[in-house]
Amino acid sequence: MPYPKPHTGQAPDTPSPTSSTPPAQFAAQPLELAGKHIVLGLTGGIACYKSAELCRLLTKAGARVQVVMTEAACQFITPVTMQALSGRPVFLSQWDSRASDNMAHIQLSREADALVLAPCSADFIARLAQGRADELLSLLCLARPLERVPLLIAPAMNREMWQHPSTVRNLRQVVQDGAFSLGVGCGEQACGETGDGRMLEPPEILHEIIAHFTPKTLAGKRLLITAGPTFEAIDPVRGITNRSSGKMGFAIAQAAQAAGAAVTLISGPVALPTPRGVARIDVQSAQQMLQATLAEAERSDVFIATAAVADWRPAEVAHSKIKKTAGQATPTLEFVENPDILATIAASERARSGLLYCVGFAAESDNLIEHASAKRLRKGIPLLVGNIGPATFGQDDNQLTLFDAHGHTELPRASKTTLARHLMAEIAARLSKD
Ligand code: CTP
Repeated sequence: MPYPKPHTGQAPDTPSPTSSTPPAQFAAQPLELAGKHIVLGLTGGIACYKSAELCRLLTKAGARVQVVMTEAACQFITPVTMQALSGRPVFLSQWDSRASDNMAHIQLSREADALVLAPCSADFIARLAQGRADELLSLLCLARPLERVPLLIAPAMNREMWQHPSTVRNLRQVVQDGAFSLGVGCGEQACGETGDGRMLEPPEILHEIIAHFTPKTLAGKRLLITAGPTFEAIDPVRGITNRSSGKMGFAIAQAAQAAGAAVTLISGPVALPTPRGVARIDVQSAQQMLQATLAEAERSDVFIATAAVADWRPAEVAHSKIKKTAGQATPTLEFVENPDILATIAASERARSGLLYCVGFAAESDNLIEHASAKRLRKGIPLLVGNIGPATFGQDDNQLTLFDAHGHTELPRASKTTLARHLMAEIAARLSKD
């Protein structure tokens, strides 16, 4: 669906009154899982050691975590560890008399916003498929109000067990009955074999839980994001780059995916893992980034340019390493200008006809308001996000200012993940308005 109004950055876009007060939706910046009560169920498997980290991540994201463990889980990790990390006594048995009416399964399942089973063993999947209820964890899975309390499961088992027809059949049944399987990882297993069946890593499970609660405001949209620095070669061993870590662009990719978008991330050289569910294209130079972006932009609805693209590249790349020869003059480098990827895409037919909404970033060292307002007009884009580059490169938090046809809006300093979430909400609102 085309957006009715083209965004050309022409006359009506002249900056007008500014505001430095964040709009209402930015006033409070809760953690991703603030106010959520998660029942974290552990079943028997070596992956229980990862549940300790998951518990920590959940509480750090603002969730209240109630751990429930099966007898088999206690063979792999102690309830003491999980109690210390969750800050709450662990439930182990349906006969636990702490519940005032002695019905722990009812109380625990009614309080929860989600039940998360991590790890979920093959045996436990079989129990869920059958609707068994002879121990606390399966009992409370069965007793949960189906329409209100989602059941998210992170399976973990040996690769043969994962592929076994009975596991495949049981999992299909459990999903048909309303549970969400988060899938498994692939790699080395505790038994020494390699293949599918490892439990997802704790940050991946955390992302899935956050995504589960995120409104799908970008469903059906294709987002294209550039991130990180570019690397402009001088010779086969040297080059010119910059201090961009890619963290902001990767956080945006992750937040967009959680909001339901299909995301392609074109990244310069960074040391970051690919966000879950995101398609990644690695490039080195600005020219490579341009080629990849041009190809992808044709089928995208939104383009967000967070990359710190090198403005210039050496005019010539030496084919062999430039040697330091005694008596020879120090080499001098000549530069040529790199293509402006954002300006190129913003000037494309697709963007000018309103089919592609372009968002730029401005990394300034000073005079942010003046430079970023001018940059938005120069690049011909409806929205530009400004920040002070040296204050944020490599950091986990940032301070952003949004620039559009109406002026500018400062967002409070926050983590890059929080800012990315708010930016996605902002872009979704603009897409639905325009
Ligand atoms: N950008 C781009 N291609 C370039 C340079 C920049 O796509 N060759 C994009 C960036 O990804 C960012 C925006 O343009 O979204 C602004 O980048 P920035 O480095 O802040 O500005 P420049 O255009 O390079 O201008 P200057 O260096 O003069 O500030």
